[in-house]
Amino acid sequence: MKKITKICCIGAGYVGGPTMAVIAKNCPEIRVTVVDMNKQRIADWNDPDLDKLPIYEPGLKEVVSEARGRNLYFSTDVDKSIDEAEMIFISVNTPTKTYGKGKGMAADLKYIELCARQIARVSKTDKIVVEKSTLPVRTAETLRAILDQTGTGVKFQILSNPEFLAEGTAVTDLQNADRVLVGGEQSPEGFEAMNALSDIYAHWLPRDRILQTNVWSSELSKLTANAFLAQRISSINSLSALCEATGANVEEVSRAIGADSRIGSKFLKTSVGFGGSCFQKDLLNLVYICQTLGLQEVADYWEQVIIMNDFQKRRFADKIITTLFNTVSGKKIAFLGWAFKKDTNDSRETPAMYVADQLMNDLAVIAVYDPKVKPEQMFSDLNYLNSRSQSENSELLKPFNDPYEACKDVHAIAVLTEWDEFKEYDWVRIYNNMMKPAFVFDGRNILDKQMLEKIGFHYHGIGR
Ligand code: UDX
Ligand code: ADP
Repeated sequence: MKKITKICCIGAGYVGGPTMAVIAKNCPEIRVTVVDMNKQRIADWNDPDLDKLPIYEPGLKEVVSEARGRNLYFSTDVDKSIDEAEMIFISVNTPTKTYGKGKGMAADLKYIELCARQIARVSKTDKIVVEKSTLPVRTAETLRAILDQTGTGVKFQILSNPEFLAEGTAVTDLQNADRVLVGGEQSPEGFEAMNALSDIYAHWLPRDRILQTNVWSSELSKLTANAFLAQRISSINSLSALCEATGANVEEVSRAIGADSRIGSKFLKTSVGFGGSCFQKDLLNLVYICQTLGLQEVADYWEQVIIMNDFQKRRFADKIITTLFNTVSGKKIAFLGWAFKKDTNDSRETPAMYVADQLMNDLAVIAVYDPKVKPEQMFSDLNYLNSRSQSENSELLKPFNDPYEACKDVHAIAVLTEWDEFKEYDWVRIYNNMMKPAFVFDGRNILDKQMLEKIGFHYHGIGR
């Protein structure tokens, strides 16, 4: 296999965009083209004003400004880019199926399949096809089945190269990856393709962090790494409920548990629940795979992680309702934060939308402020839940672009995202403009309890 000089990436989203920007930055001799069928998204990636990039990630602007136009391009011409490239990354979305067999559990592979068919139709030269999206094990087999039937004599090598970046830290995660997984066919051609991809990452990562495996191991590692991380959060969240019932402090318990070097301190932060595009989707997928293989006990084991997460979100909303004297009907509640975590404008599966939905079922009015999530995204999240009509949603949800305005005349404030700026607010000013008694429900345990109580707030954190 000759050296890779041209890469095409299908899908300019949260995975494709930052990953390709970092590859382009580190490999100036490789021409990287990111394509998407969404014209607006591509236009935003090409916007000379770097504040208009379609996704917000710390450090991304700088990387894009260095590489864009030099060896990084964004385009809607999918066919041309596929045709020219020696290596094609597939970074399209794989949401949980909303219909038919596996509804609510399995990953929807429709977009992946469409990509495979397009690659099969367009390619005139041999290609390495890299699956980057999170996929159920054995997806490479689907890709291969489609790509091997082209009848054109063009040969494809299929690699699995799962993404481990976390949103909000995508650029540093990519730049300093703990490990890169490259899964491929265990044949001379397979190893050649794996080496070609490994060479790209070796531009900036030590070789011993690039792990070559078979395709199935690589695919399964991604699903299960996310399952392990989510499991830790559900474990600590389950203890937060126990702490609230007994007077222990979950922050202290978490610190004590995490100090055991066999356990480690990361991903033991209690919260209103995990969100994001990966954890729930990957867990559901894992559960579905186990069920279809007849491994019911294994499926039940992992499903419990999701059940606990749903409980945590519900418990938070319930606590707000019971504390506000068992009714929130007609009461205004401010939400600080809508994104599923800080430093991202992504709100997929954000706990905020589930908590809002539950409070809106009890006829509360929610005044939201988030530094990065756009109001239309908030409405689209709620409309997706489909609990009430769009006009009812717009009556009950009020986005604000100023936090002090959002918190005016409210009965309570709920912190849904751990944005740093919330800690810096003038809490006395907020208190003075609120209904009394003034409640704070800190779903991320980021605010200073003592300071707030001194001002006069009634403070409720998670598990403390
Ligand atoms: C995750 C994985 O971390 C990443 O490796 C994978 O590639 C994609 O899925 P992401 O979903 O972007 O990344 O963010 P992550 O930092 O993992 O947070 C996920 C959710 O868990 C967030 O809602 C976050 O607030 C929550 N969380 C995280 C906790 O509640 N407690 C913690 O201790 C850590
Ligand atoms: P992720 O978090 O996995 O990156 P996103 O939804 O942010 O998911 O991005 C996936 C992108 O893939 C979207 O911008 C979507 O328009 C694009 N996409 C999906 N299918 C295709 C396709 N067949 N051709 C080109 N782009 C596609």
